[in-house]
Amino acid sequence: MLQVEVKDEVRAGCCPRLTRYQLIGLVFILSSSLIYMISIRVSEHWVRVRASSRTSSLVCASYIAHQRLATVYTHVNSPGDRRGHLTFEPNASRHSYFPSALVIGARKAGTRALLRFINLHPDVVISAKELHYFDSFYEKSFDWYRRQMPLSLPHQLTIEKTPNYFVDLNVPKRVYHFNPSIKLILVVRNPIDRAVSDYVQLKFKLMKKQQKKRLENGTIFSFGDFEDYIFVENTSEVNKSYAPIKRSLYSCHLERWLTYFRLSQILVVDGENLKVKPWEETQKVETFLHLQHQVKRDQFVYNQTKRFFCIKGESKLGHDLHLTSPRCLADSKGRQHPKLRHGTRKILRNFFQPFNSRFFSRIGRKFNWS
Ligand code: A3P
Repeated sequence: MLQVEVKDEVRAGCCPRLTRYQLIGLVFILSSSLIYMISIRVSEHWVRVRASSRTSSLVCASYIAHQRLATVYTHVNSPGDRRGHLTFEPNASRHSYFPSALVIGARKAGTRALLRFINLHPDVVISAKELHYFDSFYEKSFDWYRRQMPLSLPHQLTIEKTPNYFVDLNVPKRVYHFNPSIKLILVVRNPIDRAVSDYVQLKFKLMKKQQKKRLENGTIFSFGDFEDYIFVENTSEVNKSYAPIKRSLYSCHLERWLTYFRLSQILVVDGENLKVKPWEETQKVETFLHLQHQVKRDQFVYNQTKRFFCIKGESKLGHDLHLTSPRCLADSKGRQHPKLRHGTRKILRNFFQPFNSRFFSRIGRKFNWS
């Protein structure tokens, strides 16, 4: 451990001609350069920085994280201590590794929440973006895929999530060729609510696009009700080819995966329980990935406004800068669902029932989806 003191208090008297903002800029540049030099010099070691204020510690941390010089490891301020204590691990000892687990779906079932929660584990690193390698970018090499992965240490486990993998016809075979013993995680939720959520997301995305057009040429945007899409025109027959419905036919998609992978390679996560007891589902993931149990109930805090659990500030033990306010998922998660027309839910319940039964018998477990 190397201790370095960074001071950001420059007396106004020593630079009489500089404005306040110029002064702040100068301090930023000086402290950044200092940290840069330190990080280069001790690239094989841990660096501990004791900054003279919280602000300077945040400035240093942002710079280092931005430049990918090192990973900020801890950020602890004891009560009443205005200084920032940061520990960095230089990235020189980190590399990009292939993922050993994939969150394959299902879209809108809670995949982002699960990924965030398992990322609380110090031995896990996650790919922040959905990479779509096995469905959209498969023409690129395996090595390209590896290079997209976050930096990590050899003992850490990398996880990637792209929910479209679950439903794409080509993906199971491709993943099998990539790594036949890879671990797969599938989050599921009531297929009706999942379909509604999927519809809401499609509507929002289209609205965003259309809003731009409307501004350009004055056309009014309109998007039909859920029922306008899920039924074959002028009938009460459910339209299986409407994507939000199709993506909820879990048994059909799972069947494809089971032609390549054993059931024991697939962890089915209960997306409903993930909302109310996220620590329970995350602990199941830890067990599945043979990780020591690290994620605890007290790392979560319920947010009344969002009506979801968020991650308490400063709960991550590695990889990220620790913030003091709770970290909730983006507003794109937990959008309001439309009220379904009378009878719609019943029709959908009957429609999904045989698919759900097949899914339950395939996984040897039942969910209470009504
Ligand atoms: P809704 O937007 O329909 O409520 P995904 O990340 O796969 O797109 O899933 C989005 C869903 O995650 C949300 O669907 C929400 O219900 C669910 N979810 C589960 N736990 C959550 C959490 N802690 N915060 C926000 N959303 C959560």
